[in-house]
Amino acid sequence: MDTAAFKLETTVKDPNQTLLEVVNHILAMHPNLAPAVEEIALMAQGKDQTTLKRQREAHRAREAQLFQGLNTQEIFTKIYAERLWGHSGQAEHVFWSGTGSHVEATVRPYVSAVAGFLASLGDKPDVVDLGCGDFAVGAQLRPFCNGYVACDIVPPLVEFNRVRFRSLEVDFQLLNIATDPLPRGDVAMIRQVLQHLSNAEILGVVRQVEQNFKHLVLTEHLPSEPGFTPNLDKPTGRDIRMGIGSGIVLTAAPFNLKPLAERTLCEAAEAGGVIRTTVYQLA
Ligand SMILES: C[S@@+](CC[C@H](N)C(=O)[O-])C[C@H]1O[C@@H](n2cnc3c(N)ncnc32)[C@H](O)[C@@H]1O
Repeated sequence: MDTAAFKLETTVKDPNQTLLEVVNHILAMHPNLAPAVEEIALMAQGKDQTTLKRQREAHRAREAQLFQGLNTQEIFTKIYAERLWGHSGQAEHVFWSGTGSHVEATVRPYVSAVAGFLASLGDKPDVVDLGCGDFAVGAQLRPFCNGYVACDIVPPLVEFNRVRFRSLEVDFQLLNIATDPLPRGDVAMIRQVLQHLSNAEILGVVRQVEQNFKHLVLTEHLPSEPGFTPNLDKPTGRDIRMGIGSGIVLTAAPFNLKPLAERTLCEAAEAGGVIRTTVYQLA
C-alpha cells in the first residue's frame, strides 16, 4: 500500500543538492524535526549544556505560544490543517499523522507484532483504535480484527477517513477519548497518542480503558536510556515528552495502571529514543 512505500529519503530527489539544501528541504516537509536538527547543530558546534537547555526552553515557549487558548480539538485540527507533523508531498495524503505512522522501519515490525498478538487471542477480537489519525497503520491491522471502531478528535480527518477507507468496514467515530464515553470492545489500541497529551487528559483515557477492555496495546515514544523520569507533565500539543527527557509509563504515578500482566511486543529506534509497544492484560 502507498504508506508502506513511503521513505523519508525519497523526499530528496536532486543528487547535486548541498547538505544544507537537503536539510532545509526535509525541514520544510517535516517542521516538527526542527528542534532536533537545531540541537544536533549546536552539539556539532561544541555548545555546552546550558546553551542546549536554553534552546529547549525556547522551543517549549514557542510550542506553548502556537497553541495558546486552543482546546484539544482545535489543537489537533490546527496540527493537521497546517501540516505541523510534516507531509509526504503526495497529493493523496491530505492528512498526515507524522513519520512515525509511515516510515517502514517503524510501521512494519509494529504491524507484524500486533497482528501476531491479535491472532493469538483465538477468535478475532473487536478492536477500538483510540486516536486513529490518518489510519495508515490501522488499515493494515483491519484484516486481523472482527469489529473495528476508529476514533479521532479532528472532524475533517474523521470525515475523510470514512470516505477513503469505506471498503474496510470501519466505524469511524468523532470522539474526545479523554472525556467522551468510549465504544466497547475486547482490545483498545492507542498508538503514539498519549505522548502528545497532558497528564490530566491521559488520566481521563486510562480510567475508561481499564474499565472497558480486556487488553490495551499501547505505543509510546520513550527515551532510550533506562531510568528516565516517567510522566513529567506537559501541555497537550504537537510535541512529546522526549524534549524534557521523559515519557509515558502507565504503571507509574499518577496513572497507576494495575494490569494483570504486561509484555513488550516490539520496539523501533527513532529520533534518539525508542518507540515501544506494550500489551497490557487488564483486570
Ligand atoms: C500522532 S497521531 C497518531 C495516529 C495513529 N494512532 C498512528 O499511529 O498512526 C495522534 C492522533 O491522536 C489524535 N488525538 C489526540 N488527542 C485526542 C483525543 N483527546 N481524542 C481523540 N483523538 C485524539 C490526534 O488527532 C491524532 O490524529
